[in-house]
Amino acid sequence: MPLDAPTLEISGLDAGYGTVPVLHDVAITVERGSVVTLIGANGAGKSTLIKVIGGLIQSTAGSVSFNGADCTRSRPDQMVRAGLGIVPEGRRLFGEMTLRENLELGAYARTDRQQVAKDFDRVLELFPELRDRLSTHAKSFSGGQQQMVAIARALMGAPKLLLLDEPTIGLAPVVVDRVAALIQEISEFGVDILLIEQNAEVALTIADFGYVLENGRVVMADNAKALLVNPEVRLAYLGV
Ligand SMILES: Nc1ncnc2c1ncn2[C@@H]1O[C@H](COP(=O)(O)OP(=O)(O)O)[C@@H](O)[C@H]1O
Ligand SMILES: [Mg+2]
Repeated sequence: MPLDAPTLEISGLDAGYGTVPVLHDVAITVERGSVVTLIGANGAGKSTLIKVIGGLIQSTAGSVSFNGADCTRSRPDQMVRAGLGIVPEGRRLFGEMTLRENLELGAYARTDRQQVAKDFDRVLELFPELRDRLSTHAKSFSGGQQQMVAIARALMGAPKLLLLDEPTIGLAPVVVDRVAALIQEISEFGVDILLIEQNAEVALTIADFGYVLENGRVVMADNAKALLVNPEVRLAYLGV
């Protein structure tokens, strides 16, 4: 693989459901070592983009390249093995399973069992609020803790790139801040991040680069700090 290739490079992407188009000519790049955010209103097509990247739905035009390799037609399991981690919308934990079982499931595609055991300890170090609750059923955790379990589970796959679909939705402000700090910490560990958010304030504060998606099209692309002070973004997404 070319070492200088971006972690993720999407260009000219069209996708939708059956005959209903949702994404139009989408181009997004996640450079190595970066946190990139895609902000957009409800229904803009954010989760659809995650499904295309993850191989859950097929694009009708354009290309997706991951770590320099074309993966436009890759299946979900191939994407996971290639180093893609997804924290889906709504977390989708296995509520009847314990925290330990959820984390073990996160490593299902891996064969490096010794490294998995090390990562188990390392991931738990990131989440002091979970560490002593390995036998607790996922459904018994608070909303914020469940989001952390979902992130921890994705990290157990040892991803190179983590896609997070609205991780702060429905969380209290103090928990939002905790999740934001975690995302930065994870990025410092060498995991690149594509953060999908409706909460533009938080997303643009922690990201390096940002894209704005409207009606399935990328309408703005700029440094996150520039978007944060952009009057159009402030009016449409920050309510000021
Ligand atoms: N499974 C589906 N089948 C048909 N249409 C869908 C499906 N999922 C989402 N859509 C439609 O695609 C559009 C984009 O949805 P989505 O990607 O979930 O937006 P966002 O995540 O930005 O809120 C919406 O109009 C939605 O109704
Ligand atoms: Mg969504």
